[in-house]
Amino acid sequence: MLKTHTVNAVQAAIQNAAGQNKKIGFVPTMGALHQGHLSLIDIAKENADVVVVSVFVNPTQFNDPKDFEKYPRTIDDDFRKLEESGVDIVFNPETSEIYPEEDIRNFDFGLLDKMMEGKHRPGHFEGVAQVVSRLFDIVKPQVVVFGEKDYQQLAVIKKLVNDYNYPIEIIPGPTLREANGLAMSSRNERLTADERANAAVIRAVLLESQSIAGNYTPAQVEEWVIKKVNHNPHLTVEYFQISDNETLRPVTGWQENCDYVGCIAVFCGDVRLIDNIKYSL
Ligand code: PAJ
Repeated sequence: MLKTHTVNAVQAAIQNAAGQNKKIGFVPTMGALHQGHLSLIDIAKENADVVVVSVFVNPTQFNDPKDFEKYPRTIDDDFRKLEESGVDIVFNPETSEIYPEEDIRNFDFGLLDKMMEGKHRPGHFEGVAQVVSRLFDIVKPQVVVFGEKDYQQLAVIKKLVNDYNYPIEIIPGPTLREANGLAMSSRNERLTADERANAAVIRAVLLESQSIAGNYTPAQVEEWVIKKVNHNPHLTVEYFQISDNETLRPVTGWQENCDYVGCIAVFCGDVRLIDNIKYSL
């Protein structure tokens, strides 16, 4: 596995490994890697010849500087896990390498980045689009894998690829979970054992809501989920929204043969957790 830190080095390594006619698969990450990240690498390996992973905690997507500072950084562990996973090339740049100058590009994804995560973390998706487009320009992958855990991010990236005509196939990876159902996340490391156990309620309530959804309107299901999660003294819901699973437009009623997704953000102590659930009625 080649460890690179500069744009020149990663591009030389990719050119060397890929030569001609080899498919480059890419998995962007912010490190503090867990099984969820590694499952995306497995998908990339199945769909490409050379796998590149980036580890970069992108400052422009954090609307809260404290969250950026507190974000876990475990690069030596990350290198070891990536090596064991059979990754070919790691790109671990300094901020100055990605942003030699301030990034003044403006991205607008319409409604998609104005609600849910976009509403509660202003500027977040602009930062994600900045870094991901830069990484795409540097790595020039044919296939990129993103997790469904960050469902709205996945939708934003699909729109980025579409709007800017990137010749890239986006492959979604299913959410990996702890044994108790909690979606794996680098942020889970900041939960106490007690909080981690209570955070499992989020998944349990979402699953239960799937089975009752048909009997209620989306708004009623939203209300039910929020109440039930908030009932746990460790948890405070920031939002829960049921949307069309592709456009992410909020819905007022269920239609037959349509797929929906419910996206939730919950504070557990001062740790912000997100998850989602699909509804097919
Ligand atoms: P990060 O949070 O490190 O996530 C990297 C990738 O791993 C994302 O595609 C995310 O959806 C996926 N992922 C996270 N938890 C997962 C889980 N439990 N199961 C499956 N996949 C999971 O998302 C980012 O970084 C950044 O915003 C990034 C795209 C790298 C841009 O900076």
